Amino acid sequence: MAKQVWKPGNMLYPIPAVMVSCALEGEKPNIITVAWAGNVCSSPAMLSISVRPERYSHHILKESGEFVVNLTSRELTRACDWCGVRSGRDYDKFAKMHLTPMKMEKVSCPGIAESPVNIECKVTQILPLGSHDLFLAEVLCVDVEETFLDEKGRLDLRKADLVAYSHGDYLSLGEKLGKFGYSVAKKPENSVNKAVNPGKKTVNSEKKPEANTKSKDGKQRENRKSGTGLRKNAGKYSKKSDS
Ligand SMILES: Cc1cc2nc3c(=O)[nH]c(=O)nc-3n(C[C@H](O)[C@H](O)[C@H](O)COP(=O)(O)O)c2cc1C
Repeated sequence: MAKQVWKPGNMLYPIPAVMVSCALEGEKPNIITVAWAGNVCSSPAMLSISVRPERYSHHILKESGEFVVNLTSRELTRACDWCGVRSGRDYDKFAKMHLTPMKMEKVSCPGIAESPVNIECKVTQILPLGSHDLFLAEVLCVDVEETFLDEKGRLDLRKADLVAYSHGDYLSLGEKLGKFGYSVAKKPENSVNKAVNPGKKTVNSEKKPEANTKSKDGKQRENRKSGTGLRKNAGKYSKKSDS
């Protein structure tokens, strides 16, 4: 394969594009679309978002010290993009996109009711990196849409129809190719692309990075495949950008 060597740039894709809601007391809440976001620690559960200081949301995040990461579903894609090209300085984004501000459990800013998963976060550190400030945050709790839970309370996130962001494009998720550890699993049915699995006899000693989820009942759930349902949402929601 022939490769071209390009100058340094952000090429880590696909990634999520999330809708981060935030608010200062007594002011209208805002939503900023963020693609520079990711999990950074399992225990305690932590994530980061990187936000340019010139964004209207920046001072809200800094002063309030909290935010909600709202995952983007197919139906929310347009709103996600719009919140990423319009500023809260000029618009009430909740109102303009017909999104419902929803009271959260642990933080005082609202989440987006129409989002399948709301991750409530408390800022622990702000690191100036250059163009962006990195907001390191601890996850206080996760609000999961109940209709995506099975009868045993396990979360089937595929039902949420989440959207990926790749090099300026919003993409739906495709076919399932395997599950965590399938490459070394004994049961071949865990794999759909058996052709590239030479059938090596290997014992799966690896562990899936756990989804630590604290539910409303305060129980810490560890080493599980799923989160837990907290509420019922009602809602009908429905190139290239330098993040
Ligand atoms: C897909 C997408 C991803 C984005 N990612 C980021 C990001 O990671 N960090 C950032 O500061 N701005 C990012 N932006 C730009 C902001 O969302 C945009 O400037 C927004 O208008 C800021 O809103 P505000 O002024 O209300 O805070 C992104 C925009 C889009 C469309």
